Amino acid sequence: MKKIFAANWKLFKTPQETRDFFSTFKDLANKATGEIVFFPSAISLEAASSSLKGSNIKWGAQNCFAQASGAFTGENSAQVVKDLGGSYILVGHSERRKIFGETDALIAEKVAHIQSLGLIPMLCIGETLEEREGKHTFRILETQLLLGLANADKSKPVVIAYEPVWAIGTGKVASPEQVAETHADVYSILEKMGFAQSPILYGGSVKPDNAKGLAALPHVSGFLVGGASLEPKSFSEIASV
Ligand code: PGA
Repeated sequence: MKKIFAANWKLFKTPQETRDFFSTFKDLANKATGEIVFFPSAISLEAASSSLKGSNIKWGAQNCFAQASGAFTGENSAQVVKDLGGSYILVGHSERRKIFGETDALIAEKVAHIQSLGLIPMLCIGETLEEREGKHTFRILETQLLLGLANADKSKPVVIAYEPVWAIGTGKVASPEQVAETHADVYSILEKMGFAQSPILYGGSVKPDNAKGLAALPHVSGFLVGGASLEPKSFSEIASV
């Protein structure tokens, strides 16, 4: 399976910084070994869309509402992402769950809505440090998958991003043993649910120097990268492993 290398820019980069990034990145991307996907912040999506026109680099939004339009002040529309030429939408990132109180039920509605438009949801799951130390990781991930994919269409693509919350933005990457064991668990849960085809990305402090080792592990279908995706050189190195 072709690997997926996804960049989560969070609330960084203006439209101009987005255009500047792509003018450098497009040349570096020639060495990429898989599919590349960028998730710029909402106001920079149009800059990404015009910069990436005609290239095979994909892009999408970091969030959307579960309906295409209506009286939903401050929300983003997946339909607009589609109209601008986007392909993916990130759903249920731990920052959305924690800071913005997103529930598994809302996440499930978003997943179904995104699929209904022909876009690909990238569903983020992950346990906190407390949950890992309490040996609840399997149960937490199983619950997030069962509830988050409750309304999902098995015949349409969905990508899973496993991101241990304690490894996001902390520089504390999960060890290869932890990644291998948890990805095998995630795969077994997905297989039981009928989603065995779904790629499982790893996310959490992925850097050029740890990407190669992690990419070689079974059931690691690519990465979701935050901090290290903000520089063209470091992200292109990760995407070339
Ligand atoms: P990080 O972020 O690579 O900076 O840890 C990953 C993410 O939040 O998706």
